[in-house]
Order: sequence, then structure tokens, then C-alpha cells
Amino acid sequence: MDLLIPDKAHDESRQGEALLLEPVVGKNNGRKLYIESYGCAMNFSDSEIVASILADSGFETTSDFNNADVVFINTCSIRENAEVRVRNRLKEFAGAKFKNPGMVVGVLGCMAERLKAKFLEEEKLVDVVVGPDAYRDLPNLIEQVDGGQRAVNVLLSREETYADISPVRLNSNGINAFVSIMRGCDNMCSFCVVPFTRGRERSRDAVSIVAECTDLFNQGYREVTLLGQNVDSYKWSGQLADGGEQLAVGDEVKIVNFANLLEMVALVSPELRVRFSTSHPKDITDEVLYTIAKYDNICNYIHLPVQSGNSRILELMNRTYDRDWYINRIDAIRRIIPECAISTDMITGFCTETDEEHNDSVSMMDYVKYDFAYMFKYSERPGTLAAKRYADDIPEVVKQARLAEIVAKQQQYSFYRMQARLGRVEKVLIEGFSKKSNNDYCGRSDQNAMVIFPVTEGYKPGQYANVLVERTTSATLIGRIID
Ligand code: SAH
Ligand code: SF4
Ligand code: F3S
Repeated sequence: MDLLIPDKAHDESRQGEALLLEPVVGKNNGRKLYIESYGCAMNFSDSEIVASILADSGFETTSDFNNADVVFINTCSIRENAEVRVRNRLKEFAGAKFKNPGMVVGVLGCMAERLKAKFLEEEKLVDVVVGPDAYRDLPNLIEQVDGGQRAVNVLLSREETYADISPVRLNSNGINAFVSIMRGCDNMCSFCVVPFTRGRERSRDAVSIVAECTDLFNQGYREVTLLGQNVDSYKWSGQLADGGEQLAVGDEVKIVNFANLLEMVALVSPELRVRFSTSHPKDITDEVLYTIAKYDNICNYIHLPVQSGNSRILELMNRTYDRDWYINRIDAIRRIIPECAISTDMITGFCTETDEEHNDSVSMMDYVKYDFAYMFKYSERPGTLAAKRYADDIPEVVKQARLAEIVAKQQQYSFYRMQARLGRVEKVLIEGFSKKSNNDYCGRSDQNAMVIFPVTEGYKPGQYANVLVERTTSATLIGRIID
């Protein structure tokens, strides 16, 4: 089993949540939609775009798939077990479809893109298969299914960013929102299926991003997480007349890089927190780091996946940086943003990895002392460069033992990082009641640590509070509000 320590933008424990959307009044077509999402934050964000497209066609939603006319599952292909989970879930939908043969079952997202029409052969109950760039076609595809056909659209696009679609916020607390700033990935990490399932990288119109963030702020949202597979390669050019005046030099066409975009979003309001994910070690620039340091509302937290601490393995992974480069980036973060929390992704047992090379990953953890880490055993994905070039030759028990070792190590460092906050005052954005008790609030610190503290008069979710940290676990800070 993969082990991970969840945070908001990468929390795979959210997999399988049912997402609810409000019916659009006056356009109701009398049919009910159920949608369930798996995988990364991009997929959850895409489900909000799907919800918006279908709400426009008059679909109402239900949280019970047994009641639904259309059941969608938005899938992930990143590791084999992500796909196994989806297949199992489809078996559960089969029972509902047996009772209600008119039910339309659709597979969306990365697994749809990877398997294409093959899905229809493999899973007899599936009526429609739709890739991540084809969601605008959904109403039409559902119509085809209504007409007795099975339907597939897995065309990838070089342009689609859904920039004009205003996502329907699903399962929202009205405080935090994901905002997609780019799609696809042009890196070819040899282990990774994403370039195949999400296509070429493209950046979304900066003006539409700022407009969406402004709109969210005006609706009461207080935190946005800008999403992309590699946010540091964000690049858009165009006119910044609306919403981006701050950066427009002479109102001419301007190239907006990620540092510029971060600044534009930070300027929406000092009361709007800005987070982002994922940064790529080869692309993260000092300019981005200085921008984070310059604005209080850009959170001091960077997810900078290393994958391996060994340069030979990094080369086989085609990550295009080596151990020294990565350490240089970590040193730059520590120098420019001394208070910055750093998290990582790590893969154990990649093809040909020796014990010594694995030890380099361990020593990288000792060097960085990450605040969080998401740790995985290598899972070979069909069609990837690694699957074509290298044998998946590390025995399962070895992968597992190496994983267990780094998980134990990370637990120590997470605890160490939490302990370092004892006695300090954290600025927390209150998100709601804690999971365990309505007497406590929870929220995140600037550095993305979960903070729990007693409900205090005069403070509500969506507000900031200064919390004195009095105790910690390895995942949570516990304290009380001080004035
Ligand atoms: N774009 C992000 C990662 C997206 S996938 C980046 O470049 O960092 C999230 C994580 O899943 C990756 O960072 C990697 O650690 C893990 N992952 C991807 N493919 C994998 C595979 N085949 N086996 C195991 N873990 C994998
Ligand atoms: Fe996959 Fe690499 Fe792209 Fe991340 S940067 S999505 S790991 S190919
Ligand atoms: Fe995300 Fe999984 Fe696709 S991690 S991009 S949903 S393969």
C-alpha cells in the first residue's frame, strides 16, 4: 500500500468523495447526476468544471448513485492501485445499473484517456468514456448514449483550458478553492503517465485566473490554491487590461510568468491567501522565491518533489536535475524564505535502484528535514518511458522495506518540524470545526500545518486568528487564540 501524509492539494484520502452540486434553477431537465473523483487536486478541480457544464444542461445532483440517471467517475492512472480502486468501484455501480438499466455510466479523467475505447470492451457497464480535454462535449455524448449508442471522446487539445467556465464549487466550505492555471505536462519523467493522459502543457489566460480569484474573494473565499503539474513553467502572453493593471507596462501585450502571476493573484487582496502546487525543481526560479517572500499573503510553503536523492536514478527518471541542483534549490529557499515549509514526493524501488542509491534518498531527507512527504513504491505504468526502457526489477519486498524506512524517517521529521512551532504564534485561517469536536476550530497555518484550537467568541470560519501553539502531534499543532 502507498503511504502518504495528506495535505489539501495532494490529499489522496479524499478519493471517492461524492461531490454535490446545486441544481440550476429554471433549467432543470429532470435528470440527476452523481459524480465521484479520484486522484490529484487537478482532477477534483476538473470535476467542478464538469459539474458546471452539466448544470448548464439542466442536471441536478444527488449524493446517492442509486438515485442517479448519470453516474460519472473521474479517474486517476498514476499508480496501478489507483486504477484497481476505480475498477472495484465500477463493480458497485453495476448493481445500481442492473436495477435501473437506463442509467448512464461514464468514466472521465486519466484512466479514460489512457484506455480509451478499450474501456468499453473491458467494462461492459460503461456507456461513455471521456478524456480530460473533452468535457465540453459531455452533454452531446450523453445524448448519444440516450440514443442507444456508446460514446467516446478522448481527443487531447493543445488549447483547451476551460478558461471561460466558471466552476461549480463542490463540497466547498466557502473558504478554500482550487484554481487551475494550466493543463497537461511537457516533462517526460520516465515513470509518469500524466503526459499521456493529460497531453501537452498549456497555460490559462492570466486575466481569467485573476478574475476567478477576485470573484472567489468577493464571494467570501479566503484561500486559493493555483494548480498545475508544473506551475513554474506557467507562461502566458496577452493584454492585462482587466484585473491585471498592476503589472501592465504601457498596457502592451505582456508575457506573464509564474512569478508575475503569483504577484497578480496576491494583489487581489491582502486578505486572500495564495497557495500553489506543484513546483518542479528544475524550473523554480529565485524570482518566484522573492515574490513569495515579498507578499505576506503568498503562503510560505513549497511542495518540491525530489522523487529520489540519487543522481543516477534521477537521470533514469528523466527528472532533468541532479542531487546537487536540488540541494541548491533547497538552499535558495532557505536563504530567501527562511520560514518556508517544504514538502516532497519520493518514489522507492525505481528500476535498478541499489541500497546505496536508496540511502541517498534517505540522506536527502536528513538534509532537508521535510515538513511533509508523500511516499510511494514505484508502480510501472504501461506506455511510459521507464516501462519501455527498463525492467521493473526491484522485488516488491524491497520496495516495501525501503518505503517503510522513509515513512518512519519522515514521521520523525514531521514531528521535529511541528515541535519547532511550540510556543510560537501562528496566523491561522479558520476553516471550520475540527473533525473530532464542535468545541474546536481547525485551520491551516501559513506553513500549511493543521492547527486545532478551542472555538472562541468573536471568531468565525473564514477569519484569521492568531493561535499560540501549546502542544503538537506529528501532524497537528494544538493551541489557543490570543488577541
Ligand atoms: N507533477 C508533479 C507530480 C504529479 S504525480 C511533479 O512533477 O512532481 C504525483 C506523484 O506521484 C509524483 O510526484 C510521484 O512521486 C508519484 N508517481 C508518479 N508516477 C508514479 C509511479 N509510476 N509509481 C509511483 N509513484 C508515482
Ligand atoms: Fe509527471 Fe513529471 Fe509531469 Fe510531474 S513533471 S506530471 S512527474 S511527467
Ligand atoms: Fe492527477 Fe492521477 Fe491524472 S494524479 S493528473 S488524476 S493520473
